[in-house]
Amino acid sequence: MLRFATVAELRAFLKQARSRRQSVGLVPTMGALHEGHLSLMRTAAAENDIVVATIFVNPTQFGPNEDFATYPRKLEEDACLAAEAGVTALFHPPVEEIYRPGNATWVEVTGSLTENLCGRTRPGHFRGVTTVVSRLFNIVQPDRAYFGQKDAQQVQVLKRMTQDLCFDIELRVLPIVRESDGLAMSSRNAYLSAAERQAALVLSRSLAEARCLVAAGERDTQAIVAAVTAFIQSEPLAVIDYVELVHPDDLMPRERLADAGLLALAVRIGKTRLIDNILLEVAACS
Ligand code: PAJ
Repeated sequence: MLRFATVAELRAFLKQARSRRQSVGLVPTMGALHEGHLSLMRTAAAENDIVVATIFVNPTQFGPNEDFATYPRKLEEDACLAAEAGVTALFHPPVEEIYRPGNATWVEVTGSLTENLCGRTRPGHFRGVTTVVSRLFNIVQPDRAYFGQKDAQQVQVLKRMTQDLCFDIELRVLPIVRESDGLAMSSRNAYLSAAERQAALVLSRSLAEARCLVAAGERDTQAIVAAVTAFIQSEPLAVIDYVELVHPDDLMPRERLADAGLLALAVRIGKTRLIDNILLEVAACS
């Protein structure tokens, strides 16, 4: 596996690949790799001649009181894992390579896609995500880019951006990878103490509760949200950031669950903010 820290070197490598008509898959990450990330890399390796994975802890998507400084950074371990997963080129630029001195350009998706869910509790977060991902799209110009359903809102925001900016890139969205007990894999799980790790199961369990309610015929979205909220509140270490049931396309709330709904959660367990979600499909449940 090749490693690049500058845009110029990565571009020179990609120019050669393109002259050989090789297809390119891109997997953007912030590192501290786990099976969720590796599933994206393995799929990208199966579907493309070349896989570029990026490891960049993007400062602009963190709020002032968030964990940018303490976010886990494990470049050497990550490089081994990425190579095993079939990555051809690992791009790990320093901040100044992505945000040049005097940077004054931002990419922002406006409206309901960025106003609800994490958009409400993390102002500016998606502007940081779309700014960095649009840069990575421009630098790599991949045929396909790989993202996880774990960040369901991020996926919708990036689909909108890709359409609006006419990027000729296929977005591939892969399912949430979970630990054997149901906890969604996340680089932030490393922050949890043993007691918090146990308490964190309340997220996936509350989503399973919601699935049962829908299977039993519940269609009133407020009733589903209320039941999930009560379930999470029964865990003393959990503090809810949001519980929202929205339409999966526009991320807007609906009174009743018609065809499908995205139930999304953000919950603090101690100091760690975790997210999880489930797609509730009415036809499949009833
Ligand atoms: P990061 O949190 O490192 O995640 C990188 C990619 O891995 C994202 O597409 C995310 O949805 C996916 N992922 C994370 N956990 C997953 C899991 N348990 N199952 C499946 N996929 C999972 O998301 C980001 O970084 C950043 O916002 C980024 C897109 C890199 C822009 O900075």
